[in-house]
Amino acid sequence: MARKKKSQSQSTLFLIQGMDLKWNLRLACLLFLFAWVAKATSPAKVFNVKDFGAIADGKTDNSKAFLDAWKEVCFWDGMGRLLIPKGIFLVGPVVFKGPCKGPVTFQVSGVVKAPSLEQFKSDGWVEFQYINGLMITGGGTFDGQGALAWPHNKCPKTVKCKLLPTSLRFSFLTDTTIRSISSVNSKLFHMNMFNCKNIKIQSINISAPGDSPNTDGIHIGDSSGVKISRSMIGTGDDCISIGPGNSNISISNVLCGPGHGISIGSLGKYPNEGDVVGVNVRNCTLTGTTNGIRIKTWQDSSILSASNFKFQDIVMNNVYNPIIIDQEYCPYTSCAQESPSRVKISDISFMNIHGSSRSQVAVNLLCSKGVPCQNVELRNINLVYNGLGGPATSSCSNIKGTSFGPQSPPSCL
Ligand SMILES: *[C@@H]1O[C@H](CO)[C@@H](O)[C@H](O)[C@H]1NC(C)=O
Ligand SMILES: *[C@@H]1O[C@H](CO)[C@@H](O)[C@H](O)[C@H]1NC(C)=O
Ligand SMILES: *[C@@H]1O[C@H](CO)[C@@H](O)[C@H](O)[C@H]1NC(C)=O
Repeated sequence: MARKKKSQSQSTLFLIQGMDLKWNLRLACLLFLFAWVAKATSPAKVFNVKDFGAIADGKTDNSKAFLDAWKEVCFWDGMGRLLIPKGIFLVGPVVFKGPCKGPVTFQVSGVVKAPSLEQFKSDGWVEFQYINGLMITGGGTFDGQGALAWPHNKCPKTVKCKLLPTSLRFSFLTDTTIRSISSVNSKLFHMNMFNCKNIKIQSINISAPGDSPNTDGIHIGDSSGVKISRSMIGTGDDCISIGPGNSNISISNVLCGPGHGISIGSLGKYPNEGDVVGVNVRNCTLTGTTNGIRIKTWQDSSILSASNFKFQDIVMNNVYNPIIIDQEYCPYTSCAQESPSRVKISDISFMNIHGSSRSQVAVNLLCSKGVPCQNVELRNINLVYNGLGGPATSSCSNIKGTSFGPQSPPSCL
């Protein structure tokens, strides 16, 4: 009896549903649409490191709190935001590892402070790995606390040296944006990008004293599709260095100085390095740097090619070597062998480069005896030297190319 009643009421239900099937379908569609729109437009779920026990006193080690928060934001099946609020948070070394379920924003509003050198076993302080769709932003600062570590860096003086930790390591990231953050006083490099694809870096500030050792701003290796723009970089080494294995790199609206300038290289130190293809540097200003635009390859190098570089609309303010190709790079007092570099440099354009040189040889194109540079172009160059010994000069060796438009110093091509 009870069973019969149940089946009766069930069939009544089906009947009503059947009658309204059309409407129910419409309702279901609508609800689905709402849910979809809500998910797409809802603000990200926030994971505040303070809710995971982080203390902003600049002294407590917050590594566990940060990693716990990361675990949750990374497993969140939607848009997630890890929030580091105002305050000083001592952290690290830490590795934030993906893949994550949804897009993650790493919002730094406060200061993330590095521990002292003794706390490090690895060569990275804050590392991001294997993440797709990461955004790092928030207006805050990564403070590498480099001053006490710099005296321990022996690398500028000797080949056999222990590398200090790099502040921010980005490895195997795709579709990542790094915007509106600062990095100051790294122990070694500020940022190192390795095996990344499609990365945008915008409106960031990087700073360390001009005499701090190996505090490169951004080093890029084995990556493609990297775009750096609207940023200020002043350090004790290269503002931006583009190592082997890179393609499609674009740098625009960057202010560089102090530092060693914007460099491609050094290339050819190790066997099996990848070629460098497609570098575009546009509308940048270099102030008081040792080099402006530099391509450097090691003597006695491995075989590879560096091609398709365009440097245009660049202002040099009191730069020691504004335009320089150095294929006899050897930073130590003597290199093992004297054989020439085997890095083949071709299709290079220097265009609309103006300003002042601190050395007389404002344009110095020293290519390899083994593989001369091919198809180098100088177009509209105006570099002034006001020191002793007369006006600026240019110097070329082992190079084939053409010059167009006004040339000061007179072109050696
Ligand atoms: C970078 O520095 C400039 C000038 O000092 C400042 O206006 C800007 O807000 C800074 N950006 C960040 C992300 O701190
Ligand atoms: C170069 O990289 C940019 C992203 O920075 C990307 O949009 C573009 O498609 C890439 N071009 C090529 C030819 O790979
Ligand atoms: C070039 O860079 C300057 C800042 O150095 C900026 O004000 C200007 O808008 C940039 N021009 C273009 C065309 O991007």
